[in-house]
Amino acid sequence: MTDSVRILMCAPSHYEVDYVINPWMEGNIHRSSREKATVQWNQLYEVLKTYATVDLVEPQPGWPDMVFTANAGLVLGDAVVLSRFFHPERQGEEPYFQQWFEAQGYKVYLLPKSLPFEGAGDALLDRAGRWLWAGYGFRSELDSHPYLAKWLDVEVLSLRLVDQRFYHLDTCFCPLTDGYLLYYPPAFDTYSNHLIELRVPPEKRIPIAEVDAVNFACNTVNIDRVVVMNQASEGLKKALGDRGFTVVETPLTEFLKAGGAAKCLTLRVTEPRPESPQASTVQSRVVHLEGHLLDTGLVNRALDAIVAGGGSFQVLNFRLGEQRQDQSAAEVKVSAPDAAVLADIMGQLIDLGAVSIAEEVSEANLAPVVQAGVAPDDFYVTTIYPTEVLIGGHWVKVQGQRMDGAIAITQSAEGTLARCKLLRDLAVGESVVIGSDGIRTKRKTTTLKPAKTEEFSFMGAGVSSERRVELVVEQIAWDLRRIRDQGGKVVVTAGPVVIHTGGSEHLNRLIRDGYVHALLGGNAIAVHDIEQSMMGTSLGVDMQRGVSVHGGHRHHLKAINAIRRCGSIAKAVEQGVLRSGVMYECVKHNIPFSLAGSIRDDGPLPDTKMDLLEAQADYARLIEGADLILMLSSMLHSIGVGNMTPAGVKMVCVDINPAVVTKLSDRGSIESIGVVTDVGLFLSLLVQQLNKLTGDYAQKSA
Ligand SMILES: NC(=O)c1ccc[n+]([C@@H]2O[C@H](COP(=O)([O-])OP(=O)(O)OC[C@H]3O[C@@H](n4cnc5c(N)ncnc54)[C@H](O)[C@@H]3O)[C@@H](O)[C@H]2O)c1
Repeated sequence: MTDSVRILMCAPSHYEVDYVINPWMEGNIHRSSREKATVQWNQLYEVLKTYATVDLVEPQPGWPDMVFTANAGLVLGDAVVLSRFFHPERQGEEPYFQQWFEAQGYKVYLLPKSLPFEGAGDALLDRAGRWLWAGYGFRSELDSHPYLAKWLDVEVLSLRLVDQRFYHLDTCFCPLTDGYLLYYPPAFDTYSNHLIELRVPPEKRIPIAEVDAVNFACNTVNIDRVVVMNQASEGLKKALGDRGFTVVETPLTEFLKAGGAAKCLTLRVTEPRPESPQASTVQSRVVHLEGHLLDTGLVNRALDAIVAGGGSFQVLNFRLGEQRQDQSAAEVKVSAPDAAVLADIMGQLIDLGAVSIAEEVSEANLAPVVQAGVAPDDFYVTTIYPTEVLIGGHWVKVQGQRMDGAIAITQSAEGTLARCKLLRDLAVGESVVIGSDGIRTKRKTTTLKPAKTEEFSFMGAGVSSERRVELVVEQIAWDLRRIRDQGGKVVVTAGPVVIHTGGSEHLNRLIRDGYVHALLGGNAIAVHDIEQSMMGTSLGVDMQRGVSVHGGHRHHLKAINAIRRCGSIAKAVEQGVLRSGVMYECVKHNIPFSLAGSIRDDGPLPDTKMDLLEAQADYARLIEGADLILMLSSMLHSIGVGNMTPAGVKMVCVDINPAVVTKLSDRGSIESIGVVTDVGLFLSLLVQQLNKLTGDYAQKSA
């Protein structure tokens, strides 16, 4: 017997699966046998008595899980941090364990009542005595870790649990004598696995397979070179044997029904203090969120981003708007296991419009551009939302906002200039904002919108959606008329499908009536429009009769050739070669257009810009100042345009494929509307609606 080791246990006199607070308990309510549990518990008790002194705490009626003494608290030296149970079902155990520790002369530390921490179930000392591993994610809160570091004067390494079956650290992780580690890697997130690999050398790691993990092989009591567990596979016994450990199996199947085994049934109450000084890398920030937090799903997205990013949160306060039009506000404390993880999470929260609360805001961090066209590592990637950066104590508005850029800072006589730039445009001598400090984005919160951009399905089978498309078309027609009458700007991006589906006559009409102020597309829209205008076919199909024309497959090449002969589309119009169609209307009405080249292009037309950087710059120029962008059946150009458009510009994406519409709405812009329908029908409805609005349906109907 090792005199120095003392273990606390609690007899299973009141043990029962009475409720479900972990996946093991599901389906097991009242299915455990107390008689069998007592036999198994006694066997474990006898085994442990041969290696250690076992103390007992009095079991209490009504608290069936008290048998799992690992969750009483965390002992180190003469101090104990008492557990604060996450589930009310176990909170009643706390006073009994507190009494026991006080009676034994321990100094008892009490965490705030609202801060869950489940003792040695979620905090395990490295057996080489160097640090404390602490789990979070299900039962214990990350914010409890700095308390452990301070009170117990120990370095705390935080590990995030991600598999609900392994809800406590001691169900999937077991430090062993001499710095060995028995653990089940898939129970942890990537960051935690990386941390484990950094601290424990490969020869000391003993990763176990799922078959052993679900038999609670990690829920092991380790005393010197002995490991006591429920069950181990032959492979695991060999792996442990090769490292000088003796495996003692003692069946604990009745306790597995409640999600516990050997380690859960014990608490080591003699733990020598490690040498290392206190430290916890846990970092926290408080952020403020404001707007229609519930209607827009913003608060859920923010909390999901924190958890998915490896952090944890506490909602410090939430003020719900009382009326439908009122905004809500929330303050949320965000904690992460270290500064790098916090910075990543903060980057995502800033994108969602969260602001660090005033006293915590620090200046934006800058790093110089040392190679033209290359940003420093860790540069802040911009979003579509208006952004400001804190430089020299002032919030400076970022100009030229677009997504997927970097924020370049330059100083001039007028002061600090912050500009959103593409990587390729960064110049040596500029500085770039890095990290997530001193950055805030603003989201439009004045209008109430559905939680997710609504997709209006017209063609979708079984959905009575025609009326819904009509409704959205009514809204778009209203916007187009308002923007035109107020001297605003509407940009149309269009693919060749507009022509194939017979939509060109309607698009022509929109251009003629002053609803379109710039047209963006590729080679194809122009080629097929010109083919239709010159030969009456689109891709060789007669647009009047809907049948293929003999030799029609060459028509588009003939159309390209004719324009090439003239030198440009404008010259073809001038020379009377091109006399109708979308491109003709653009030239005639001085509507600027830009055709971006692609690898698919035939010809190309002389106007098609085959230099993509030039084409992108041309698109950006034409988008500037747009109030609305109508994206008509071109995935390539619609997504390209979406990426370079700042928030605040309304986007209407019409495509037959819901995935394209969703891709655009995923930018998070609450201004975007997706319409899943045939583009020819959409344009026809739109023109009809505009005619109704302007009262000239009868005379001008196309
Ligand atoms: N001859 C040519 O030079 C030629 C021909 C075709 C394409 N291209 C070029 O290839 C690139 C990509 O072309 P793209 O933009 O047509 O292709 P794309 O695949 O990017 O977009 C076509 C979109 O139209 C949608 N669509 C199909 N039928 C529809 C309908 N009835 N109603 C509504 N939406 C419908 C599709 O779901 C798709 O999202 C462009 O640069 C284009 O100019 C060149």
